[in-house]
Amino acid sequence: ADPPALFKPLTIKGVEFKNRIWAAPMCQYSSQDGHATDWHFVHIGSLATRGVGSICIEATAVVPEGRISPEDAGLWTDSQIAPLKRIVEFSHAHGTKIGIQLAHAGRKASTYAPWIKDRMGHGTSWTAQVDENGWPDNTYAPSAISFHDKIYPDPKAMTEEDMKYVEDAFVAAAKRCHEVGFDFIEVHAAHGYLIHEFVSPLSNHRTDEYGGSLENRLRFPTRIVQRVREAWGHDKPLFVRISASDWAEGPEKSEDGKWLQWGIEQSTIWAGELHKQGICDFLDASSGGNWQEQKIPVKHGYQVHFSEAIKKAHPDLLVGAVGMITDPLEAEAYVKEGKADVVSLARGLLRDPHWALSAAKLLGVQVKSANQASGCRSTVSCYN
Ligand code: FNR
Repeated sequence: ADPPALFKPLTIKGVEFKNRIWAAPMCQYSSQDGHATDWHFVHIGSLATRGVGSICIEATAVVPEGRISPEDAGLWTDSQIAPLKRIVEFSHAHGTKIGIQLAHAGRKASTYAPWIKDRMGHGTSWTAQVDENGWPDNTYAPSAISFHDKIYPDPKAMTEEDMKYVEDAFVAAAKRCHEVGFDFIEVHAAHGYLIHEFVSPLSNHRTDEYGGSLENRLRFPTRIVQRVREAWGHDKPLFVRISASDWAEGPEKSEDGKWLQWGIEQSTIWAGELHKQGICDFLDASSGGNWQEQKIPVKHGYQVHFSEAIKKAHPDLLVGAVGMITDPLEAEAYVKEGKADVVSLARGLLRDPHWALSAAKLLGVQVKSANQASGCRSTVSCYN
């Protein structure tokens, strides 16, 4: 009999993912000057031995000032390759595919790690100052609009020179990914960070060829993906994670056709464009993060309708659903019904790193032992 949809392998550009339960990227705020530490080795390693089909390493900054916090991961210099390589080799030895999310935090850079934010409480500044290893005077964005006047740094509006510098940094990081040995790269275009800031009319008020019309707002984001594709290669999996909505109040478009905020209609157009250009093999549909007053109707599977809409419009594009997916039967239904090709979990895997194994048990999938599974040394990472 056919295996359940969640446990059907998926091959993208020659890379076989053993199942469709993937670990979403999760910032650990535990890097040292952008270098992965033993914390990452243990955290990622624990997932690599427990049955997920893929792991995406956290948002990793392509330049130092593109970090969210001073403790963020980076891949802007060659010394950051070795600690990542150790993690990737461990993951591969246990039959788990692994990639990395390349990122730039834009106007949401130079802020405190979450535990410091929690200690400070809301309403006080979250900006990491220079004497706290921050760089508040070197934050930049499409327009000089702070994410929050009182809490976040004031970004400068980027020049074309700045854009070229950021693109080149994405390219340099993508080249380092070859040396690390990653299976895939994911471009972080979600959650109110630099690329999302460019696509959204709420954060992009530019009047040059990078702002205004949808075509203009997509110009720089698409160019980053194109250049990462060239550096990474057309024969290797390239993923893009988007926010499919700003979740600001009101419609995406006014009655006279003016785009008011970023939403699913523009996301679907952009997804189609990336797909048509052959520069995106898999699109992960998240949402939010770019608007302080966002109103997100959080509930189980609250973002699945985004992946479903994109899949419907572009059936040949592989799409992922993420966001409060906690129930294996619901997850199975999403994939089986074609609402997504893959489900990604973040908090569900922190609470239960064995989630994929529990799902296998519930769905009647037998877990292969180490010796039966070719090229796989772990007792828990393969299925038949
Ligand atoms: C996240 N999330 C996230 N997303 C992303 O694109 N890059 C990142 O580095 C992070 N970092 C991160 C850290 C932690 C601790 C959490 C819990 C989340 C968002 C994450 O990938 C996911 O989209 C959301 O958490 C929703 O999925 P869950 O947690 O409901 O399964």
